[in-house]
Amino acid sequence: SRRITVHDIAAAKERGEKWPMLTAYDAMTASVFDEAGIPVMLVGDSMGNCHLGYETTVPVTLDEMAMLAAAVVRGTERALIVGDLPFGSYQEGPVQALRSATRLVKDAGVGAVKLEGGERSHGQIELLVQSGIPVMAHIGLTPQSVNAMGYRVQGRGEEAAQQLLRDAKAVQDAGAFAVVLELVPAELAAEVTRVLHIPTVGIGAGPQTDAQVLVYTDMVGLTGGKVPRFTKQYANLRQTLGDAAKAFAEEVVDGTFPQEEHTFH
Ligand code: KIV
Ligand code: NA
Repeated sequence: SRRITVHDIAAAKERGEKWPMLTAYDAMTASVFDEAGIPVMLVGDSMGNCHLGYETTVPVTLDEMAMLAAAVVRGTERALIVGDLPFGSYQEGPVQALRSATRLVKDAGVGAVKLEGGERSHGQIELLVQSGIPVMAHIGLTPQSVNAMGYRVQGRGEEAAQQLLRDAKAVQDAGAFAVVLELVPAELAAEVTRVLHIPTVGIGAGPQTDAQVLVYTDMVGLTGGKVPRFTKQYANLRQTLGDAAKAFAEEVVDGTFPQEEHTFH
């Protein structure tokens, strides 16, 4: 079986089909999602918060991204794997973006890359696409700009809404095959989805986008502490893992593990 391509993604919008995307940061989890039929996986720089113990996505390096993206590619057969370009790996300009994206395509084997920014990232997207690298754009809340932007809903008010529409059109014009809309009002996300011919991928953007993405550790209840209101917890793996660890610890201490069936003579 072959991998999903950006052409399949374009065809889904023409047919009016919605699709799911999940983040993945390791081969094992990615293989589970691949077997579950998740068509697109994002090796998000959310690995900073969710996998590597950083407080934000800002410290994530291209080396870290390349290593975990390669693992996700190895763990999957069918899904389109999108690798995030980390902060500092494309802001200098199109040539730096191409060098970074080329590394993820050649060394990690991703089928596409994602980068943040609308009008401001037009040049980067254009050069990558001209060079044969499919690009997913990301506008609205862009976490790599947390120090300037904070974490709040974007595109509220007429002026901000017009800017978001300009950003959406700019990434489409530059050749992006899809665009993530993060934390924007549902009505505005619906309008962007109507206006664009490329698919929109919503997170905290209401029900009308062409696709939905969630950070998998939030989705399965692994994330400790507070999770954003836009996420939905479909399992409680934090509880399950913790219970398993406690049960193992108890059985070691009281001598009930290992039993005869676990033992060689
Ligand atoms: O890094 C990430 O997980 C993302 C998604 C939230 C879109 O960029
Ligand atoms: Na990201």
